[in-house]
Amino acid sequence: MSRFAHPAGDRHAEVLPEERPPHVPADLNALRPAVWPRTSGRTDGAITIGGVDVRDLAKEYGTPLYVLDEEDVRSRCRDYRAAFHDGEVHYAAKAFLCREVARWIEQEGLGLDVCSAGELAVALSVGFPPERITMHGNNKSLAELERAVEVGVGHIVVDSYEEIARLGYLAERHGSRPKVMIRVTVGVEAHTHEFIATAHDDQKFGLSLSSGAAAEAVRRILALPQLELVGLHSHIGSQITDTAGFEVAARRLATLLVDIKNEHGVLLPELDLGGGYGIPYVDGDEAPDIKVIADGLREIVARTCRLAGLPVPRLTVEPGRSIVGLAGVTLYEVGTVKNVEGLRTYVSVDGGMSDNIRTALYGAEYTAVMASRESPARPMLSRLVGKHCESGDMVVRDLWFPQDVSPGDLIAVAGTGAYCRSLANNYNYLPKPAVVAVSGGRSRVIVRRETEEDLLRGQL
Ligand code: LLP
Repeated sequence: MSRFAHPAGDRHAEVLPEERPPHVPADLNALRPAVWPRTSGRTDGAITIGGVDVRDLAKEYGTPLYVLDEEDVRSRCRDYRAAFHDGEVHYAAKAFLCREVARWIEQEGLGLDVCSAGELAVALSVGFPPERITMHGNNKSLAELERAVEVGVGHIVVDSYEEIARLGYLAERHGSRPKVMIRVTVGVEAHTHEFIATAHDDQKFGLSLSSGAAAEAVRRILALPQLELVGLHSHIGSQITDTAGFEVAARRLATLLVDIKNEHGVLLPELDLGGGYGIPYVDGDEAPDIKVIADGLREIVARTCRLAGLPVPRLTVEPGRSIVGLAGVTLYEVGTVKNVEGLRTYVSVDGGMSDNIRTALYGAEYTAVMASRESPARPMLSRLVGKHCESGDMVVRDLWFPQDVSPGDLIAVAGTGAYCRSLANNYNYLPKPAVVAVSGGRSRVIVRRETEEDLLRGQL
């Protein structure tokens, strides 16, 4: 059957996107180390993570299930701290935050970047030191700002003129002097999906460098003695694999520091270069080496400041995805396998766009394999789909599964630690899956699965 000769007519074929099946992997059962958690492997054919067999996890906790490799998260925190040994590393909570992860981040000595009162509340609930927290957001409410000022967060990143005025008022009312940074839109075209690129001028975040809005924000803050301007911030986007954009951003921020010194005689001691460091999701994806990035950024900022005779500011980075992304795997159980003659086989699992909306939202790509067993069967072009009432409900758009994939098999999707649970929703009233941490052969629930009661809560 040809997709261009459908009885429903031409329109039917037109809406199908161009077909581009990925390469057939040499071994359908292999776990490419770059995309799977650091402690994962196969034992008796089944995947193990943190020394725990995924079949046992599915049996004990059910599916779909988010599995988080604690050692992977912690070791990436340490890698970042080593790479930025003379700076600060703040984990971006939006990638995935729960109380237990906040504890790990605290224990590993990182700071935390939050962008809402809710994220702040999770951190504070486990005693995360407020002075290690940075508050972000392009439209923080007065209540959010007040909470941040009250608890004494370490930094507030100012994103608008209105916010400067609001913060000035709040600081005076509370008799405190919050440390603020300015979110600068540095005009870099980051090579990533439009929805997650944030440094070009035409968007909602930040104060533009080229229009002079950032320089005006500096003037306004310096005019308010109740605010302590300590530095500049930039975040150019997310899932960026090309390091050039970070370097351009760093150079432009450092140059603005120099301009501020020249105009106001004020030396700002801190530069926050945001997050955005990409991770590999599928075969062939390149990811930047964090040590190379750290050395490159340090060198650029040092050189720019040295040339202007300024001391080198303290650098902060805010990685989210590159700390938790690869530590997380989603486990699903196959429910139906439907072959659409001449096209592909649809393998349906028990979750979908409610637990991972990234494929539908950004056209994200993922690696998925059979997790409960190895199969010697030949590859078959497949699409891994969810159970939602929407045909855009895809987990992995194009992939190869062994021809014998069957109901009851477990599927593992790699790289779902970031922006999956945190973007999860209850479409079609599906309860959000549990998050289970694995480490040293043991597993424990760190976020419990939602129940029907949770779904009905709050309704009349
Ligand atoms: N700092 C700021 C100010 C940010 O806005 C973000 C991400 C980060 C740090 C961390 O970026 P990361 O290292 O995780 O790339 N939902 C999208 C990603 C949105 C990122 C928003 N900001 C996705 O699923 O790809």
